[in-house]
Amino acid sequence: MADKITIVKLKEMKQNKEKITMLTAYDYMMAKMIDEAGIDVILVGDSLGNVVLGYENTLPVTMDEMIHHTKAVVRGTKRSLVIGDMPFMSYQVSKEDSIKNAGRFLKEAGASGVKLEGGQEIVKTIKKMVGIGIPVMGHLGLTPQSVCQLGGYKVQGKDEKTAQRIIEDAKALDEAGVFSIVLECVPAELAKEITEAVSVPTISCGAGVFCDGQVLVTHDILGLFDKPPAKFVKQYVKLNGLIKDAFKEYIDEVKSGSFPTDEYSYH
Ligand code: KIV
Repeated sequence: MADKITIVKLKEMKQNKEKITMLTAYDYMMAKMIDEAGIDVILVGDSLGNVVLGYENTLPVTMDEMIHHTKAVVRGTKRSLVIGDMPFMSYQVSKEDSIKNAGRFLKEAGASGVKLEGGQEIVKTIKKMVGIGIPVMGHLGLTPQSVCQLGGYKVQGKDEKTAQRIIEDAKALDEAGVFSIVLECVPAELAKEITEAVSVPTISCGAGVFCDGQVLVTHDILGLFDKPPAKFVKQYVKLNGLIKDAFKEYIDEVKSGSFPTDEYSYH
């Protein structure tokens, strides 16, 4: 087996211009398959809310839900670096709360780092986390926990003022000691400028090809939903139809008595 991925290795990958691969996982089985396929980073995203728990957005996701799912992902992982996503209101109330919550991802769940959404406003919190040994991944651009403030899921940084703000935020996160920054739904040219301006790897989620790596939600690339995906998502397989067909065949066979045959019976 190849060596376990570390945050030091990710920084080396940026220097060597080797692309970083990242996908989300929320359970043991999926994490095991992703890990065995050779993905560098597994993010236990708070997209857990939309994808697995059936919430409308990520806002209701709790620390306990994130810890529960991160533990399962860690159990399924041998080589990939597992990062836990800090849910809404787990790092905004007080520095003490933030540190305790971040610490839970490493101490209780066995993750190797945490991800936080936001820029200059959370720099002090990030510095404190990094200072006590908690690796932090930043997240800029479209930050889904601010969906109410942003007025929907829209591309960010299209005008000069917001683009400049995202660049300043990225530099501030870099200085604060993050080991990587996710750039979500920003123009590819802006992502390129940021990637060249910061010392740490940038990971694109709908931010084009110039970043140091790419992340997508696993359920999206597998086509597990029956709705069309966002523009930046490539579906590598359409599992929704295949899975429903398997369920329908099972139902038909049980109803008609053609399952189980002798082959599936004990004597
Ligand atoms: O929650 C999540 O899955 C994420 C990624 C899409 C970056 O934050």
